[in-house]
Amino acid sequence: MTDSELRRKRLALNNGSGHMPALGFGTLIPDAAVTLTATRDALEAGFRHFDCAERYRNEREAGEALRAGCATGGIAREEIFVTTKLWNSNHRPERVKPAFEASLDRLRLDYLDLYLIHTPFAFQPGDEQDPRDADGNVLYDNGVTLLDTWRAMESLLEDGRCRAIGLSDITLVELAPLYELARIKPSAVQVESHPYLPETDLLEFCKERGIVFLAFAPLGHGSRPGPLEDPVVTEIAARVGKSPAQVLLAWAVQRGGALLTTPKSAARAKENFNISALPEDALDSINRIEIRERLNNVVMTGVPGFIARGGSR
Ligand SMILES: NC(=O)c1ccc[n+]([C@@H]2O[C@H](COP(=O)([O-])OP(=O)(O)OC[C@H]3O[C@@H](n4cnc5c(N)ncnc54)[C@H](OP(=O)(O)O)[C@@H]3O)[C@@H](O)[C@H]2O)c1
Repeated sequence: MTDSELRRKRLALNNGSGHMPALGFGTLIPDAAVTLTATRDALEAGFRHFDCAERYRNEREAGEALRAGCATGGIAREEIFVTTKLWNSNHRPERVKPAFEASLDRLRLDYLDLYLIHTPFAFQPGDEQDPRDADGNVLYDNGVTLLDTWRAMESLLEDGRCRAIGLSDITLVELAPLYELARIKPSAVQVESHPYLPETDLLEFCKERGIVFLAFAPLGHGSRPGPLEDPVVTEIAARVGKSPAQVLLAWAVQRGGALLTTPKSAARAKENFNISALPEDALDSINRIEIRERLNNVVMTGVPGFIARGGSR
């Protein structure tokens, strides 16, 4: 595969609704002004896949940047792939469609390429995204199951404004039974994944069923020490003349998944898009890294690891 083919690689969705560009840009950016500039820069650098969420509280800015960037660059809506996510406080089936509509409205889009259940954890239903009791404990909702929410997600596909559905922050143990019971199978699963958390069993499960395995934190959330400073990764980077970030992103695509990265400057957006195919022995060396580290506990609790509680965004 040439470098250009790798950068433009797209993964077919299992319901035939389209293709997801493997290189995705994530909008988990607390600052509204930075959301605007970083999203624009990502579009200019070549990214065509954008990941949003009602929980990020910046769908308006992400949508605005995409609209302006597409108009300036002559990019049609069909050329970009946009995802957003249903938050935990909207898991009750009757809240799913209104939440979907509200996201479309904030993004000012006519349709979404992908809508994900953000986490399998249902919080107390309502407009408070972070419901807590007096002692600060999260208020979960035991009155709704993940399958109840999934059934409501399935019915979103009926009018064409939601092209595909999937899940995020889910383990294989939770995904496998849901997959069996689903009338419409998930098209994508978004989870933390990098060489310190390869999630190989989940990747294989997804590949066998045509589900896109979509890695978030492919750079380990930028943490240092972390995968960006791993000696195996830095040695390969020096050998192939790419940056450690480019090595990590190429590995994520070449193993058959898609990814989401969040460069915040134009220079980093270019760097993160301009990946090059790694030789097989480099992929093998990364696969042999034995360090295991989960950086985001959202998969255990449904509480985001990266948004300060009570923060303004
Ligand atoms: N489903 C979920 O629960 C969930 C959870 C987390 C994230 N996500 C999604 O996944 C997206 C990506 O996650 P992420 O932000 O952790 O991705 P990431 O790309 O692994 O990490 C971003 C961090 O890496 C740094 N960085 C970016 N490009 C770099 C480069 N070329 N060299 C060195 N450092 C670099 C950034 O630093 P600077 O800020 O200094 O540029 C930032 O600190 C999010 O935006 C969101 O859409 C989903």
